[in-house]
Amino acid sequence: MKKILLVITTCLISPLLLAKSVQVKSPDGNIVVTVNDDKTPNYRIDFNNEGAIEASRLGLRFQKAAELGLGFAITDTQRNTVDSNWQLPWGERKNVRDHYNELLVTFSLDRQSANTFNVRFKVFNDGIGFRYEVPSQPGLDGNIAITNELTEFNVGQPEQTTAWWIPSRGWNRYEYIYQTTKLIDVDHVHTPFTFKLANGHHLSIHEAALVDYAGMTLQKQRGGSLKADLTPWYDGILVRKTAGFTTPWRTVQVSKDAVGLLNSDLILNLNEPSKIEDTSWIEPSKYVGIWWGMHVGENTWGSGDKHGATTSETKRYMDFAAKYGFKGVLVEGWNIGWDGQWYDNGDVFNFTKAYDDFNIKAITEYGLAKGVRLVGHHETSGNVTNYRNQMEDAFKLYQQHGVRQVKTGYVADGGKIKRIDENGIARMEWHDGQFMSNEYLYNIKLAAKYQISINTHEPIKDTGLRRTYPNWIAREGARGQEYNAWGSPPNPPSHTAILPFTRMLSGPMDFTPGTFDMAFKGLGADTDRPQTTLAKQLALYVVIYSPIQMASDLPRNYEANLPAFQFILDVPTDWQESKAIAGEVGKYVAFARQERDGDDWYLGALTNEDARTLTLSLDFLDKTKRYQAQIYRDGEKANWVDNPYEMIIEQKEVSAADSLTLPLATSGGAAIRFKALN
Ligand code: NOJ
Ligand code: CA
Repeated sequence: MKKILLVITTCLISPLLLAKSVQVKSPDGNIVVTVNDDKTPNYRIDFNNEGAIEASRLGLRFQKAAELGLGFAITDTQRNTVDSNWQLPWGERKNVRDHYNELLVTFSLDRQSANTFNVRFKVFNDGIGFRYEVPSQPGLDGNIAITNELTEFNVGQPEQTTAWWIPSRGWNRYEYIYQTTKLIDVDHVHTPFTFKLANGHHLSIHEAALVDYAGMTLQKQRGGSLKADLTPWYDGILVRKTAGFTTPWRTVQVSKDAVGLLNSDLILNLNEPSKIEDTSWIEPSKYVGIWWGMHVGENTWGSGDKHGATTSETKRYMDFAAKYGFKGVLVEGWNIGWDGQWYDNGDVFNFTKAYDDFNIKAITEYGLAKGVRLVGHHETSGNVTNYRNQMEDAFKLYQQHGVRQVKTGYVADGGKIKRIDENGIARMEWHDGQFMSNEYLYNIKLAAKYQISINTHEPIKDTGLRRTYPNWIAREGARGQEYNAWGSPPNPPSHTAILPFTRMLSGPMDFTPGTFDMAFKGLGADTDRPQTTLAKQLALYVVIYSPIQMASDLPRNYEANLPAFQFILDVPTDWQESKAIAGEVGKYVAFARQERDGDDWYLGALTNEDARTLTLSLDFLDKTKRYQAQIYRDGEKANWVDNPYEMIIEQKEVSAADSLTLPLATSGGAAIRFKALN
């Protein structure tokens, strides 16, 4: 009898205990995501019939509620397919296709109880996104504190996998030189985290739509397992939510080669449509500024003999901008608070009061009469409460003076953003924790009210929010050109050959290219100075995408080389279409981009410390047109060490049927304008 009972019970229970598995494929069928509940909810990704991400855990832990993870099983699924198009008001391309298969998986505890959570997967041809959607339920029905996100990304052969990364949770935020190591040697890293598997497939892990949540970093565990590590609040809690919440999308871009990573709209597609209806005041454009002079020590931000931000100097820059067609002049150091160690005294910044030698009214009237706007600046030194208290008045002042763009700055060591809490107590936060994620977005939303676009320096990483808030026009978030003024070491030749495959996958960067004087400290390999050729500086305007681009050097250095400056004057900052056409991470890269609402194409190509010759097909050009290619390339003896300036400027008539052979010098480059002739 006992035996029979046992058999009957086993028959009844065992189908329930069997792990369940569901699949969703990309529209082209190449990417397959398998979701499983064997012991704990998990997913895996296969690409072209080979493992890309091995079975990896899903789940969340809380301060005062039971884990959503262990013991949960699949109880429901829903499917959907979307194929639609939408437009970017500005961007790398105008028309974006949003094409994916969707699977919503519901996990419940013991398949009976009310405890449940959903994971929504969207699988595109170029990668996947998934996020947690946690409904209100017993135990998770009031204020919720997340103490651990269990998401993993397991990589099969970590010894044979090459990774490009910068460390996370460090004092220098995102401003590190990229490391190239085996995945097994990775420790704690920021995203986008890019790696190449033994079979040559390239993957990049990042996130999309980071709103009211902590930024996700990756902590390597045993073997090739990378685990989500959310940047905490000052008190160790990772994320504070109220009941019924969703997380940002966790993303994995997948491509058969390096270039494929660059031609992806995955991150933007996973963001919400624009919340700003009239975007006519958001202006992609080029600017110059009172800036490089401070970084190379010719001027100071603070008052005194070398004060850069004076009325007369700004008028001189306005004249220069008007003469060459730049739309904006950035001025740093005009407002009270820069004297002494400005990066240590952020609570004395006054965002509306100018130094005596700067007359904002006179300057902006002078500029506007010539069609040039002041580009505003708010350096906070990480004292965000001081900024918050003045933010609205500061935007009002700028709007009153015709300012449409403001560069912000949050210079403070990682973990040392200072805020004053509701009880008047000073708290220290990270740039990429939930508090700052909200603070940056508050700044963007308030700026929109005054029709101001924001270029955030020392930002939180980009996660595609420019789709929802197109006035978040650019940000820094990596080592930019400034490191070539004072960095020791400066940016190495490989830096801009790695950025496109890592930092740039997240969105536009205000890199501030265009150094023409490479010898302000002398030439040579051992001097801390820009480690590029002049042609490579030009190539950066096409390679490092931003809707606002600075010509960052001093006006006198441009006027000393007008033939090369012509490329900066011609190159647009807004594109109809963009195509990465060649590249290997850390070695070289080439982009072709078509002017927005125009016929001309532009090409930028650059290399690391190795000279190389690229032969590039011009099949991206319109087949019905002929073009004059205006080519700026390294001269025969050019090299970054002691001959960075030698450049050949030549013209050729070409069509889509041609290819171009471009010899690139060591840390060299090429920049081309294809001017349509018919
Ligand atoms: C850091 C920014 O990245 C840089 O461009 C700026 O000049 C300084 N902060 C001062 O605000
Ligand atoms: Ca910076």
